[in-house]
Amino acid sequence: MRKPLIAGNWKMNNTLFQARELINSLRRELIDFEDADILICPPFTALSDANDLLIESNIKLGAQNLYWQEKGAFTGEVSPLMLKDIGCSYVIIGHSERRNIFSETNQDVNRKTKAALSAELTPIICVGEVLDEREAGKTIEVVKKQLEESLADLDEEQILKSVIAYEPVWAIGTGKTATPQQAQEVHKFIRTWLKDKYCIDVSQQIRILYGGSVKPSNIKDLMSEDDVDGGLVGGASLDSASFVEIVKNSV
Ligand code: 13P
Repeated sequence: MRKPLIAGNWKMNNTLFQARELINSLRRELIDFEDADILICPPFTALSDANDLLIESNIKLGAQNLYWQEKGAFTGEVSPLMLKDIGCSYVIIGHSERRNIFSETNQDVNRKTKAALSAELTPIICVGEVLDEREAGKTIEVVKKQLEESLADLDEEQILKSVIAYEPVWAIGTGKTATPQQAQEVHKFIRTWLKDKYCIDVSQQIRILYGGSVKPSNIKDLMSEDDVDGGLVGGASLDSASFVEIVKNSV
């Protein structure tokens, strides 16, 4: 019922030349693949070229961040309209690296989510606990607060146009993946929270992605869990063969 979504978050990687090579390879390998939605999120500098290379392709384009204002004196920032204009249909919001390195708050994430939706971009809203919080048994409490504040005031129509990503911070870039059971426990909590805030129909339609050391070898097991609807892939999305295998193993 929920079509899987496999998203590659390239983070701050790839020059234009490297980006073009990777995209051309992904296009070739995934040309007929229809069973999952496929998304890549290159850095801002590669979005324009990526859009040109992805014309009439089944691979969608997303950005890794935006600013919530429409335009103006915000040196260094990029607006929702600019992303739409350059061909993006998705944007990652509130990634743990934005939260932890650049001090983004849940309130920032909320503003950015609303701005993305106003520009008809699909936000991928990230939540997840750090290791200390998991070890202190606070995972659900932390994720609940992130959901409550990051999704504050979103109506049914808005949440239905959003994607949520659970990324335990201790699993990002560490090679240490959450077990499928650990992922499922939090995904199930997120879906139940959505059911309580909205309704069962809404909660059943929203895709919840898992992120954190997703690899070709673990995507199948993660996807076999009821509430895991796809992956937000970092490191392994930089290698064409790995990303292609993750996409193919996701269904
Ligand atoms: P890795 O797949 O490199 O652990 O990164 C996950 C991530 O942060 C995706 O947004």
